[in-house]
Amino acid sequence: MIKTKKRNGSISLHAEYGRPGVNVLDLLDELDIDVLVDATPTNLIDGEPSYTYIRKALVSRLHVVTVNKGPLALALPALKELAQHKDVILKFSGSVGGGLPVIEFARQCARGDKIVKIEGVLNGTTNYIISRMEDGLEFDVALREAKEKGYAEKDPSLDIKGLDTAAKLVILANEILGIKATLINVSIKGIEKLSRKEINEAIRDGETYRLIGRVDSGLEVKPTRIRREDPLAIRYSMNAVSFTTMNSGVHVILGRGAGGRETATAILRDLIEIKKKLIEVKI
Ligand SMILES: NC(=O)c1ccc[n+]([C@@H]2O[C@H](COP(=O)([O-])OP(=O)(O)OC[C@H]3O[C@@H](n4cnc5c(N)ncnc54)[C@H](OP(=O)(O)O)[C@@H]3O)[C@@H](O)[C@H]2O)c1
Repeated sequence: MIKTKKRNGSISLHAEYGRPGVNVLDLLDELDIDVLVDATPTNLIDGEPSYTYIRKALVSRLHVVTVNKGPLALALPALKELAQHKDVILKFSGSVGGGLPVIEFARQCARGDKIVKIEGVLNGTTNYIISRMEDGLEFDVALREAKEKGYAEKDPSLDIKGLDTAAKLVILANEILGIKATLINVSIKGIEKLSRKEINEAIRDGETYRLIGRVDSGLEVKPTRIRREDPLAIRYSMNAVSFTTMNSGVHVILGRGAGGRETATAILRDLIEIKKKLIEVKI
């Protein structure tokens, strides 16, 4: 499959299993399956095609694993309700932090405690750009490097304008804090206007800019000055998320927040979790 994708650009061109032009909605009717795994490209305008695929799967009482932030950022509360109503499981571990188990870590932090604030560097591309600007590069050069290294989304404006961070923040707000938010509830400012002058001034004061997503009483994404020794002051393409709890302090998880291999691990993690839950129900 991977060879076919690399050679021909689409797995639908696989000699044995490929079906070019096949419609996913037809496949959902045709196949005898238990789970839909969705890794379609992110669209933050209307969530398509993923939104329709996920909806149809849930209505057809299929479990769903998705790594696509689009439909989650726009309609997570409704999709969760639908999954609950149809008594099926909707999992999306890879949608925040790629392979980094951010949602699972948060659940552990909240066990016997309460998370009151989430803050994080949730987008590796913008963090890479800011870090390279600190190294002396201009914004455009740093962006080109991020694209060459494969960090940027297909449409890098999603990263730069803060929308990717906002989408992940919405997912965390719903899943961890129980806030029924969507993308329209987030105040968003990206890094497109962040200048090297501002970055250098911060460095002179022992601080650094990071594109921070924050949720407590509200949801906000903006370039924020933090101390260089702050655990969120990670460099290059890393992600870091801090969870402030009511009683057990601040817990931080950090690591590589993207990558195909890492995100595929998150999909496997969700599939294993679904299987475990189904076995528990049978017992
Ligand atoms: N890569 C990462 O590091 C990462 C991390 C976390 C989350 N994600 C999310 O994972 C998703 C996929 O990312 P990617 O980097 O793997 O992108 P990608 O390489 O562009 O893969 C997209 C896949 O979606 C398929 N596809 C495109 N349009 C479709 C349609 N209308 N119906 C059905 N399938 C369609 C493509 O099929 P063909 O094979 O035919 O082209 C391809 O297999 C995105 O939502 C992204 O935000 C990615």
